[in-house]
Parts: sequence; C-alpha cells; structure tokens
Amino acid sequence: MNFTGANILSVEQFDRDSIAEIFATADRMLPYARRQKRTRVLDGAILGNLFFEPSTRTRVSFGTAFNLLGGEVRETTGMESSALTKGESLYDTARVLSSYSDVIAMRHPKSGSVAEFAQGSRVPVLNGGDGANEHPTQALLDLYTIKKELAYHGHDVDGMHICMMGDLKFGRTVHSLSRLLAMYNKVRFTLISPRELAMPDSVLDVLAQAGHQVTVTDQMSGSSDADIIYQTRIQQERFTTPQEADMYRGKFRLNSEIYTKHYKPNTVIMHPLPRDSRAEANELDNDLNQNPNLAIFRQADNGVLIRMALFALTLGVADIVDRYETEVPWFSDKRNV
Ligand code: NCD
Repeated sequence: MNFTGANILSVEQFDRDSIAEIFATADRMLPYARRQKRTRVLDGAILGNLFFEPSTRTRVSFGTAFNLLGGEVRETTGMESSALTKGESLYDTARVLSSYSDVIAMRHPKSGSVAEFAQGSRVPVLNGGDGANEHPTQALLDLYTIKKELAYHGHDVDGMHICMMGDLKFGRTVHSLSRLLAMYNKVRFTLISPRELAMPDSVLDVLAQAGHQVTVTDQMSGSSDADIIYQTRIQQERFTTPQEADMYRGKFRLNSEIYTKHYKPNTVIMHPLPRDSRAEANELDNDLNQNPNLAIFRQADNGVLIRMALFALTLGVADIVDRYETEVPWFSDKRNV
C-alpha cells in the first residue's frame, strides 16, 4: 500500500504487508516516544485534531504523536463549539479546515462521517472513531500490543485464541480489531456478550469467510485456553436511553477471582479504555492492577507509537525521521522504561 497522502478510514484498506510496514515504523519511533532522542521531521506541520465526541487517550495520543515528530496541534473539541451545529456540512468543514492543516485526525458520533469528511479534505484524514462503525488506529495499536504480548510468551497471532467480552454490538474497537485479525490464520474467537449486544453479522461474516473458528456465547465458561481476554465497556452513548444501557452494565465483569477461575495463568488482559469503574459497572476491577498480564496501560502507550507511525507514513517522512534527530538535553526518568 502507498501510504503517502492516503486517508486512514478503515482497517479494510490494509493487508498483512502494510500492517507489517506500520508496525516496523512504530518500532522505530520508540526512542522518540521515550524521549531518548527528539526529531523535528514535522517542524512547521499542523495537525487538525477534530474530536466531536468525548475522548482522552485517542485525542491526546494523536496530539502527542504529532508533537513528538516536531509538529504543532490545533484542536477542535465538542460539536457545540463548531459550526456543524449551524447546519454546516461535513464537506464544507473539511474543505476549509484542511487548508489550515497538513493532516487531520477526526472522531464523530455518526458511522461513515469521517469518510464523508475525507471527501472534502485536501489533506490525509485519520479516523479516530466514527460512531459504532470503525476505529482503525485503535485496532492497529491493539494488534501491535497482542503481537508483543504473545511474543513475550513465545506465541504468535496465527493460531491464537481471543475472547472478546461486553458490548460487542456497539463497540467499534472490537469491530475493527476482528476485521484486522481476520487477515491472520486460524484465529479462534470466543465472543461473549448479552444476546442483545452480540457482534454484528457483518463482522461475523468476515470471520466466517476467512475460515476462523468463532463461538458466540453469553457464558464465560469454556474459554480457559484463551491467550487474550479483551474486555469492553457498555457503550452507553449509543443506546436510545441511558436506562437501556443500565440493563447490561456489570453483566460481564472481570476481577481477580473471575480471571483465576475462567482463564489460564498467562492470559493477557486487554481493554481499549476507558474502563467504567463505577460500582454498578466495574467491568475490569482494580484488583487486577498488579497482575503482570494486565496489558491495558502498555496498550495505551503503544497508541502513541502507532499514531506516530501513521503520521510519518501518510506525510511521507517515515524514512527520514532520524535525519532530523537531535539529542535530548533534559533529564528524563523515562529513558529506561
Ligand atoms: C474506545 C472508543 O472510543 O471507541 N476508546 C478508545 O478510543 N480508546 C472505547 C470506549 O469508549 O469504550
């Protein structure tokens, strides 16, 4: 795939070679992300960071990634502060904002909205989540994390067993991750959710066509040989009423006791975050915080590397990042992380 100038809208754009190229580029970003060195390769470039839905990690890590490459970030957050509330089309917004930026990252509550926006944009657009549809950069950082965690245990993505649990209907991260994993060989999927929040058929069809073994269930038992358990939050904002979401909150929890009962000792625990830590939800308990298999913060750290890689690739500078490198004069205790 030729990344230079490309939009990143869906995981469907990738194949295993392009994924490998993104991951190799992400690996090379590590010294900059750790502040062992700095690079000014994007000095003068501007990221338009447009977040029309709540976000902490995705928004800040897109901004951080761009800053770490030497670029500047302009943020627009919240629908209410943008002219979209005055009836402006996504096309017009894109046409205007893209002349103020070199690349745009965008999140929006409507499925397909980021692709619609990209049609009016004159610069590459990276999808930071469009409704319940896709979240391609999260899927890439999830897969990058899975590869690293499994490699630590001497395993590979091909042939692995992943359990996805929680709101699989509205969770865009599990939609994109499943589609990405479908490109690998003989992956076993156990999809655990209340029946009403099951994985959409459109995703199940992709997995079936690629010949993967898929179990759809509303029970946690029977997955004791899983390599990965990927927990998700009930996507309250996608339900018609908050009361409807209340019916499902806290149905599938993971805490130390449940983890020990249902999973083998080295099962890697993942969650795209934010985890809902309110007592009535508490889908991923704090009592797992010291468990070495809890990969959630490594996952969030990897988000910066993946987003740096995507900016470097789409702006055509991936091969010259080190040409713009300088030493870091300040003290940083992150050097040996
Ligand atoms: C997810 C999202 O926004 O889709 N979070 C994220 O981007 N890290 C998951 C969620 O909000 O539950």
